[in-house]
Amino acid sequence: MTRLSIIADIRRNSYRAKMAKDETRAAKRMEQLRDEIRKHDRLYYEEAAPIISDREYDHLYKELIDLEMQFPDLITPDSPTQRVGGKPLKAFEQVAHLIPMLSLDNTYSEEEVKNFYARIQRLLPNEKIPVVIEPKVDGVAVSLIYENGRLRQAATRGDGNVGDNITQNIRTIRSVPERLRGAAPKLLEVRGEVYMDKHGFEKLNDERRKAGLLLFANPRNAAAGSLKQLDPAIVAKRPLDVVLYGTGATEGVDVDVHSEIFPLLKKLGLPATERWWVAESVEEILEAIHELDGIRHKFAYQTDGAVVKVNSFAQRERLGFTAKSPRWAIAYKYEAERVQTRLNEIVIQVGRTGILTPVAVLEPVFVSGSTVGRATLHNEDEIKRKDIRIGDTVVIEKAGEVIPAVVEVVKSKRPRDAKPFDFAKHIHGKCPVCGGPIRRDLQFVAWRCENLQCPAQTTRRVEFFAARTALDIESVGGIVADKLVERGLVREPLDLFELKTEQLAKLNLGTDEESRVFGEKNATKAIHAIERARTLPLSRWLFALAIPDVGRTTATQLARFHETIEDVANSPLLRGVLQYHEKRDDKEDAKEIADRLVQSGFAKPSKSKAEKGRGITTEVGPVVAQSVLDFFASAAGKKILRRIKELGIHPKSEKVSSKKAAELPLSGKTFVLTGTLPSMTREEATEKIEMLGGHVTGSVSKKTDYVLAGTEPGSKFDKAKELGVRIIDEPEFRKML
Ligand code: IVH
Repeated sequence: MTRLSIIADIRRNSYRAKMAKDETRAAKRMEQLRDEIRKHDRLYYEEAAPIISDREYDHLYKELIDLEMQFPDLITPDSPTQRVGGKPLKAFEQVAHLIPMLSLDNTYSEEEVKNFYARIQRLLPNEKIPVVIEPKVDGVAVSLIYENGRLRQAATRGDGNVGDNITQNIRTIRSVPERLRGAAPKLLEVRGEVYMDKHGFEKLNDERRKAGLLLFANPRNAAAGSLKQLDPAIVAKRPLDVVLYGTGATEGVDVDVHSEIFPLLKKLGLPATERWWVAESVEEILEAIHELDGIRHKFAYQTDGAVVKVNSFAQRERLGFTAKSPRWAIAYKYEAERVQTRLNEIVIQVGRTGILTPVAVLEPVFVSGSTVGRATLHNEDEIKRKDIRIGDTVVIEKAGEVIPAVVEVVKSKRPRDAKPFDFAKHIHGKCPVCGGPIRRDLQFVAWRCENLQCPAQTTRRVEFFAARTALDIESVGGIVADKLVERGLVREPLDLFELKTEQLAKLNLGTDEESRVFGEKNATKAIHAIERARTLPLSRWLFALAIPDVGRTTATQLARFHETIEDVANSPLLRGVLQYHEKRDDKEDAKEIADRLVQSGFAKPSKSKAEKGRGITTEVGPVVAQSVLDFFASAAGKKILRRIKELGIHPKSEKVSSKKAAELPLSGKTFVLTGTLPSMTREEATEKIEMLGGHVTGSVSKKTDYVLAGTEPGSKFDKAKELGVRIIDEPEFRKML
């Protein structure tokens, strides 16, 4: 060894020694910081008694982050910084629940609550049956699993048996401890709801409005939408919280009545329901339900009812379950909330097809989970019938996600000078947006703007074109569509395909005085979505074109039998349908056309006896056939066809050949959907059914083949039972698929 290399060696070693010392010191400090931050999280979130300022907290947090950047090996998975740490996922892993997550039977009357208690008294005669009354939280159901005090897994309810693994996302919620406090049981599964408080919800929507993104309808949607994000960094920015109301699988938990769970959860540092009542008679139950109704609006989370649960686990076990829900619990739903507010103005909105709809502009009020500033007044007749006047105090009702409506006027509060609202006079015989001519449309009991270039109509058409169920270009909805039309960048939906990133980036979403541009990042995203729309299948395009009478179902049916848009425009099948209906009296001709349609799979021989075996039922009826052919024969329709071609867009059918259509597994089957499905939306279920050849209709009749029922099914469920129609749930439906 040379002297030089010896010196180098010594230097390296002393450097290593120093590093090791640094690392030990860092490790120690990091542990301190983690404990300290956890303590402040607890003080802040659980005890609502912070002892340091937000600034000091941020300081500690930043110190920890800096050290973790310097010594990444020393990051522990339970570090408070790891709450936002995970990488975006490709998809959520599916995890089976240790115990199924069931739903509850709903009741809407006190009578039914009485019946519930009478029923369990009958089932457990001569016993005292204490029950717990607690809030029914209107959030997103989750299960959290702690093993030996550590958070191991968080999952959504999914179909009740299998849910999405959303552990990364739940870790971003600061009130969810990574470790339980004190002596923790071996296994503790806790269940509850993730929610967004009103304030956070409004702030989030404000930000989205400014960015031109679609708004969430209510806090629950916002919470659900947030939990569905695959990137935990996005979730971390959403103001989510959780409230827990029960346990699932447990080991080493020594509790035999439900009411003891709340203090236990609190003791372990978990955010639990803070108000509950124990009752032993119907009177006490109803009293608790009323008391809860009086205070529930003060909770940070939204509630839509009270849950009544048998307190003793032993009694629960003896009561057992029905097919869908436990016999030992019931949910009582409060009535839709109604509030009074002042109607400041009536404005006229112009819809996609030019229909003028009166809308009430209200003094903003918070009702059923969100702030309402507008309510639809439907049409001129409705305003007359309810005698709604500007300046009136009105009663607003909102049930869940339904668009708020004006229920009635509080006549006693009417200002003396309020005059009946004269719709015709108010609009001065012209479109309030473009000033174009209007016409009374008798079919829709409404006025209609006849100017196809009316900017309001164009905006609505662009929004429709870009909607999720159409071409799914989310980023050009709402205010962005408004501004694109207002600034003349878009005159019709297809203009979107000629937008340039630079143009979009510069788009001013604000006013001339206070400008606020769309920005490079949003613009790039939008252009990507627009490019993707080019490749979407024919069914989506047919729907997006907003052909009169063509909804999603019809669009899918048409796409199954045609390869391209031109094929639809010149469809011999649609012409056949018209000819068949024209010539029904001429047996020979009709028979020939009918045979041709049946052969193509576009029609089936009718079962109706009146037709004596001659008749057929076609995939679409003559009204739709006429409407589609008229649309493409019109000047506007021809222009659209030409333009699509020029833009180099060639939507193709995900075509199942027409012969095969008749052989599709659900071909000819009619479905009716009711209730909320555990793991798919109505649209998704409909899409699946239609892709396999089935139909979805709105009401149950003898002809219905299946009723697909989710939780909280409506009257369709009862009707199906009455008619003996087969009722299936999501797991069964999935099997069918
Ligand atoms: S107990 C087997 N308690 O409502 C009983 N559920 O319709 C399991 N919910 O799936 C549920 N607040 O997502 C229970 N205090 C509460 C609740 C509650 C809201 C949700 C939960 C459940 C659904 C039942």
